[in-house]
Amino acid sequence: DKGTYRHFMLKEIFEQPAVIADTLEGRISNGRVLESCFGFEAPAVLDAVQQVHIVACGTSFHAGMVARYWLEEQGVPCSVEVASEYRYRRPVIAPGTLFVSISQSGETADTLAALRSAKAAGCLSSLAICNVPESSLVRESALTLMTRAGREIGVASTKAFTTQLVALRLLAIVLGRRRGLAAEQEAALVAALEHLPRQVEEALGLNDAVEAMAQFFGEKEHALFLGRGSEYPVAMEGALKLKEISYIHAEAYAAGELKHGPLALVDANMPVVCVIPDNALVEKVISNLQEVRARGGELFLFADSGVASHFSEGTHLLQVGHVDDSIAPVVFTVPLQLLAYHVAVLKGTDVDQPRNLAKSVTVE
Ligand code: F6R
Repeated sequence: DKGTYRHFMLKEIFEQPAVIADTLEGRISNGRVLESCFGFEAPAVLDAVQQVHIVACGTSFHAGMVARYWLEEQGVPCSVEVASEYRYRRPVIAPGTLFVSISQSGETADTLAALRSAKAAGCLSSLAICNVPESSLVRESALTLMTRAGREIGVASTKAFTTQLVALRLLAIVLGRRRGLAAEQEAALVAALEHLPRQVEEALGLNDAVEAMAQFFGEKEHALFLGRGSEYPVAMEGALKLKEISYIHAEAYAAGELKHGPLALVDANMPVVCVIPDNALVEKVISNLQEVRARGGELFLFADSGVASHFSEGTHLLQVGHVDDSIAPVVFTVPLQLLAYHVAVLKGTDVDQPRNLAKSVTVE
């Protein structure tokens, strides 16, 4: 039931504060992550983890890309790969490798096959981050951490992605704890998670402004999405959403890669979307964007309110509130989902059922 919403996708975008809160429910307490939420055997397994292989497809892969920044910040070596490649390579599975799969459906053929091959190759253990408790992926994994996004009907994944990020944030904390994450640092990360539903709610408050911004994309054939650090995969996800449902060709780049090629594409017809959290990379992002401006590129910026003043007149700028860096990828995802949604509505595409795509990809 779409309720008062025109599409399931919009309904699901607006459900995010609630499903993020559900995904945290009973898993954090008194400034700590309760690691029993990963399953009974979790503490012993987590003690033995020396590195992590994350494998997933599509949007779930982007969640894994964000998690790599989070895990490595905690000193956990981490690789991330799309399942269709991982399963046909011969990945070196060193002792102590935790295989982490991420999947909304738990039935994605390539992700399942990658899990099976990692088990056969002797990974330490397997963890599924999944939204469907009775799925094959959950049944076949030793540890599970369920996202509690509820049923996702829109083919373009939204609330499943942000709840995956929440689950991965919990994983980074429990592994970090074993590598010197102090109790007060953990408490700060947990506090940021507790603020997350409210901050996502605030980001949803940009809906009308994003709808107005969408007008500028209706006639465009291409768009570039930029981000740095943990916002690089957020840019990838924003680009994927736009191409999936509006059929506009969108590409994401790490902003530092611009001058290595894509800058050649930038002119007045190329909208450039960038997400800008308040972190150590902001000066770098400013100089990347100056390069875009100098080539006449039109900038569409989503910036933390703490840094928004750096972005001069003549850009389309929307401010999300002030967001802790540890959860910024979740919050910045929201306006990009809304942008893709409103552009698609404007173009009159079938938002919930984009052409050529299936909700669950059970064949390779
Ligand atoms: C994009 C999208 C897909 C899925 C991918 C993996 O909006 O929904 O890219 O993320 O097919 O699906 P799951 O997560 O079910 O394994």
